[in-house]
Amino acid sequence: MATRTIFIEKGETRITRYVETGTRLLDLIQNEEIPLPATCGGTGRCGTCKVKIKESLPWNRTEEQVLTSGEKREGYHLACQILIDKGLHIEVPQLQEEKLQVMENSVERDFDFLPFLRKIYIPMQNPEVSDLHSIYDYLSDVEKLEFTLEQLRQVPVLIREKEGLTLTLDPNGKVIHLERGDTTDQLFGIAFDIGSTSVVGYLLDLNSGKELGVASRLNRQAQYGADVLSRISYAIEKKNGVKVLQKTVIEVMNEIISELTEKSEIDAKNILDCTIVGNSTMQHLLLGISPKSLGQAPHIPVIQQEFMLFARELDLNIPNALVRVLPNLGGFVGSDTVGVILATKMYEQEQLTLAVDIGTNGEMVLGTKDRLVACSSPAGPAFEGGQIRHGMRAIEGAIGNVWIETDLKYEVIGNTKPKGICGSGLVDLVAELLRIGIIDPSGRIKNKQEVPPIVSFFLKKRIIEKETGNEFIIVEPEKSATGEAITLTQQDIRELQLAKGAIYTGIQLLMNQLGIAPEQINQLYLAGGFGSYIDSYNAKRIGLIPQIDENKIKTVGNAAGYGAKLALLSKVEWQKGIQLASEIEHYNLSEVNGYERVFVESLDFPKTERWLK
Ligand code: FES
Repeated sequence: MATRTIFIEKGETRITRYVETGTRLLDLIQNEEIPLPATCGGTGRCGTCKVKIKESLPWNRTEEQVLTSGEKREGYHLACQILIDKGLHIEVPQLQEEKLQVMENSVERDFDFLPFLRKIYIPMQNPEVSDLHSIYDYLSDVEKLEFTLEQLRQVPVLIREKEGLTLTLDPNGKVIHLERGDTTDQLFGIAFDIGSTSVVGYLLDLNSGKELGVASRLNRQAQYGADVLSRISYAIEKKNGVKVLQKTVIEVMNEIISELTEKSEIDAKNILDCTIVGNSTMQHLLLGISPKSLGQAPHIPVIQQEFMLFARELDLNIPNALVRVLPNLGGFVGSDTVGVILATKMYEQEQLTLAVDIGTNGEMVLGTKDRLVACSSPAGPAFEGGQIRHGMRAIEGAIGNVWIETDLKYEVIGNTKPKGICGSGLVDLVAELLRIGIIDPSGRIKNKQEVPPIVSFFLKKRIIEKETGNEFIIVEPEKSATGEAITLTQQDIRELQLAKGAIYTGIQLLMNQLGIAPEQINQLYLAGGFGSYIDSYNAKRIGLIPQIDENKIKTVGNAAGYGAKLALLSKVEWQKGIQLASEIEHYNLSEVNGYERVFVESLDFPKTERWLK
């Protein structure tokens, strides 16, 4: 096969490669491990894989739909759409570190402060060695200890007259770390919540229980796919896919560790415990385990139970720490859901409680103290602005809230000119357009003459009638940061319907499984960043969550992260998490008869009397 010369530039990096004709440009860039977002996994729907090509190339139909005229003028193409058939000069844009609006706070509750690890100091002054058979006996005099051979090898190196040793022990007396001198006042831990979109780390003092800092980053794995399914595809299909994804998330975690230790002036060597929650795919990728079995029916994980290892085995920059990964519930329902259940104490509720964590993969749990059932449903990236024409994450420049008075009103994150719309803004917008009758319950944007007379002239003017489906102007070109109009397309509404339909299907099937109706739910917890930022009234209006009283809905913030903190600060909570994972039923939706029917029924927007008033 013929080869072609490809020059790739990204910042200071310049590489030349000779590739076979027919190679997809995105594959070449990814195989070279050059960071470039491709959040739809290369299906031509997200528009994130834009690169500049110096040579003149025609745009295919997908590119025509996704790229703006301004981008085309500048020579942008979608790397996933280019099959190389001639020599090219490619410029890969520098990634801007996005300051995502990450939910770090959560509800809090009482718990027994009983850290999993503890330190004991053993003085070595004038040991009555003659009375002992060995130094091991001397060290074990206080309690029964369990050393590894490697640790025993360190003992003679560390022992110095007068200084003594400090041992860090797990609840069974297993030595996790040993060091010279008395360092019992230096015992710290870090709790991580690894989400598909963001990673949050909390630094805690394990002597006092005090939180010393919190830091978050985007999960840069998102450049290889926005949701868990596209990341699984990347892991399976790409050379070193699992390794690349593992390395990426560990780099992010190490950045968080650096930020936390620098700000609190703590030596990372004194961080000795680390708990982690995340969905099943994130957990597999962190551990460097292929998530292949999760990606294929019946979607079973390689590992479901809790897992302990040393941080150095993962190249985490907390070299002396023990890492404890909480157990998964089954399938895609991971330890982050265990964290939510721990944080909200759903397992003690007498009355029916529903917890929903909405992300690219939605997880939901329903039940009482006697029975809890959990499932997950793939919502896709629409709630994070993915596959939405002018969608974007909840970062500066995103329209985060929308409401309608005589005309459309909105708020922009960071109070700047708007660049696009994020998930919470999209939910508001569609709910408001449904309320005033510009969108009908099937999701269709009506023509101007079809809208109710009450709709103002200003709003009607925003409707652009098109044969391919109408559009609604959210921001006029002169008011946007890009100089181009920000619009809501008919396709955007379809994407939102698919996403909200997937979440509601999960909830509906859980209700069916328990034989209950929405009005029987006594409490609804909305967890996670998106759940905390959306307007719950509008979420009900579009049929994302059940129609239950507002006073029964509570946003609980990053409850998954709080669950990780609980497991760090209390061995009782860690054990509870393990117990919950063995008791909670996992409901595998892919095996449910009638899933498609419920999903199709969930796509339309609710037409209840209440909303038609
Ligand atoms: S459009 Fe190319 S990866 Fe999504």
